Amino acid sequence: MTELDRRTVLAAACAGCAGLALTACGGGSDSPAPALAESPSAGGSPAPIPPLVSLADLPVGTSASVRGRVIVTRTSQTDVVAFSAICTHQGCTVEPDKSSLGCPCHGSSYDSRTGAVLGGPASRPLEAVAVLIRDGGVYRA
Ligand code: FES
Repeated sequence: MTELDRRTVLAAACAGCAGLALTACGGGSDSPAPALAESPSAGGSPAPIPPLVSLADLPVGTSASVRGRVIVTRTSQTDVVAFSAICTHQGCTVEPDKSSLGCPCHGSSYDSRTGAVLGGPASRPLEAVAVLIRDGGVYRA
C-alpha cells in the first residue's frame, strides 16, 4: 500500500467514525427520555382521590357537570355548592345552562345556586351534595 493509499483509507475511516458518532448523538439528543410510569403507592395505601373539579377550572358564577352525576357551582371566591345531576322529574341528567341548570328531556330548570325549581315540570329541588374545598379542589365531604 502506498503512503497516499494509507492516508486515504485512514481519512475515510475517520470520516465514517465521525458520522456514526454524530448520528448516535443526534438521535439520542433529539429523542425525549421515556416517561417513567408512576410507581404504585407503597404499603398498599389507596391512591389519592382526585377532586370533583379544580377551582382553577370553575370561575365564580359558573357551574360544571362532573361526569354527569354531580353539578358544582362556584358561588364566590371561597364557596361552592353541589347538587345531584339527576332531574327530579323523571331522572334525566341536568346540565349547566348559562346561569341555571337545565334538563334536556322536558325542559325543567333549576337555580344553580340553590337547586330550587325555576320551571317545571319538575316540582322538587335537586338533591344537595355535600362538598368541601381543599387544596384548590372541590371534594365530596
Ligand atoms: S326528566 Fe327532567 S324535565 Fe323531565
